[in-house]
Amino acid sequence: MSSIAALNWRYATKKMDVTKKVQQEKVDQIIAAAQLAPSSMGLQPVKIIVVTNPELKEKIRAIGYNQSQITDCSHLLIFAAWNVYSEERVRHVFAQTNLERELPADANQDYLNMALGHFPSMTEEEQFTHAAKQSYISLGVALTEAALLGVDATPMEGFDPAQLDEMLNLKEYGLRSVTLLPLGYRKEDEDWLVKLKKVRTPLADFVIEFQ
Ligand SMILES: Cc1cc2nc3c(=O)[nH]c(=O)nc-3n(C[C@H](O)[C@H](O)[C@H](O)COP(=O)(O)O)c2cc1C
Repeated sequence: MSSIAALNWRYATKKMDVTKKVQQEKVDQIIAAAQLAPSSMGLQPVKIIVVTNPELKEKIRAIGYNQSQITDCSHLLIFAAWNVYSEERVRHVFAQTNLERELPADANQDYLNMALGHFPSMTEEEQFTHAAKQSYISLGVALTEAALLGVDATPMEGFDPAQLDEMLNLKEYGLRSVTLLPLGYRKEDEDWLVKLKKVRTPLADFVIEFQ
């Protein structure tokens, strides 16, 4: 059950093999894992956009510091987050949860009121930042699942989110892009990172214990 071996195998792939496609079943599994990520108050303010269209990938690469993984990958996932926590969105999540749990429509009213009271005190930018943080949890879970399936992936912030939002008309969906996750397979002979040791802060420095 441990993911440690998979996390040691994975790395931020710099060169992907454009000829290798990831099976749809594996892509679906990676997305399903991301969907299962926890989120603050269970509001799930995260969406995943899947891009396979070659022309669109080219356009995204042009606003992504020309990073080759964007076009060479099999599937490009874009993690996006709600631009704001509108009352309608918050109410919808609670209503759907009550419905699926076969609870009365007005169940968990105190929790709902707490959620509804929380966000209006924030600016729209703060609300987006809150939502974007949730998307990183999904990103981490997707990365881990990809590694477990032997699929290479590169988490990426190296692109212009405002330009991507404009390109995909994300405002219309009430979304803003946060990260990219190209999925594919490493091209070992052309990847400068593949053979380099994975370096992490030693565990003794990573953990602070108060006993
Ligand atoms: C949020 C985030 C953004 C990143 N952005 C990029 C990026 O734009 N391009 C890239 O090649 N790597 C990117 N990386 C990869 C990191 O540089 C890499 O994960 C880190 O150096 C650790 O190496 P490893 O993932 O190979 O273990 C990003 C990683 C994270 C978590």
